[in-house]
Amino acid sequence: MNKPLGVTVIRHIVDSQRLHPEATGDLSGLLNELIVAGKTISAEVNMAGLADILGMSGKTNIQGEKVQKLDEFANNTIKKRMARCGYLCVMTSEEEDDAIPVEDGYEGKYTLAFDPLDGSTNIDVNVNIGTIFSVHRRRTKWGQGSREDMLQKGRDQVAAGYILYGSSTMLVFTTGEGVQGFTLDPSVGEFYLSHPDIRTPVRSKYLSVNEGNRNYWPENIRRYIDALKEKDKEKGRPCSCRYIGSLVADFHRNLIAGGIFIYPRDNKNPDKPYGKLRLLYEAAPLAMLIEQAGGRAITDDGINILDIEPNSLHQRVPLIIGSKLDVDEAQGYLG
Ligand code: AHG
Ligand code: MN
Ligand code: MN
Repeated sequence: MNKPLGVTVIRHIVDSQRLHPEATGDLSGLLNELIVAGKTISAEVNMAGLADILGMSGKTNIQGEKVQKLDEFANNTIKKRMARCGYLCVMTSEEEDDAIPVEDGYEGKYTLAFDPLDGSTNIDVNVNIGTIFSVHRRRTKWGQGSREDMLQKGRDQVAAGYILYGSSTMLVFTTGEGVQGFTLDPSVGEFYLSHPDIRTPVRSKYLSVNEGNRNYWPENIRRYIDALKEKDKEKGRPCSCRYIGSLVADFHRNLIAGGIFIYPRDNKNPDKPYGKLRLLYEAAPLAMLIEQAGGRAITDDGINILDIEPNSLHQRVPLIIGSKLDVDEAQGYLG
């Protein structure tokens, strides 16, 4: 459906809800609360250089990573707003060891997993970072949610998306009916529809991988990545290498222009045998988005990311995500 210019994200959400007479408006309300949190974080990110909010917080999270002040700000902004929104029964954040309860009396029917700030190592060097979120319907009947409510496979997400704090702030999300992109007009504080019905190109133009880990990858992954660099006119190769180090920014460029992002397992860190990226709030939401946009997301042994049954909140998975024909080809190398 051709949308008129200047469609705000709230207009889009309400119009989408109208297509579902059974809808209660809870998912719309949840998305709206997330959008307010995103605008708050965006304002802080854009001021970060001035507001003494750069640098380390002096804390280390469950991932064993140093927590930046902006990580903490983003995490607290989302946690506080969503704990009392009335649409959630439980949350999980990359920055919190355990599941996060909602405020008593405010229990709702959805769950939220989020990476409050993805690409933290790029905060102090003014490179794009973002917030990634994933929404499921609760499994338990009522009251505070549980790990059982959190540990659901990506196929069952009801919504997934990210907010990218870059040269402009963009919101990209899906509720299972295609992928929509909105750009923030900071002078008005509104997100306007700028990228309706995003479809990712079937062939990659860009390859995003941290070549610094090459010596630690499985042999078949090395051979596949080398194939992406071979000249092949028909496949538009060699691919150009683009690696920002913020998954959400690399993913967004690849989504729009066509690309493949690979973070395979490596034997560099024995404590991280499945690579660095987390399933619940990085791989699974992006996998829903890429499938909705015509692409694919698999592990480095060819399993569809959306079919993985999570067994822990911070479970890591190897990730190959992007243009369909290139991910199909990767599958052939994985055996
Ligand atoms: P986060 O900042 O949320 O911990 O995520 C960082 C991730 C991801 O954004 C990025 O693709 C990856 O770390 C980069 O890892 P390397 O520096 O090992 O390439
Ligand atoms: Mn991250
Ligand atoms: Mn993060």
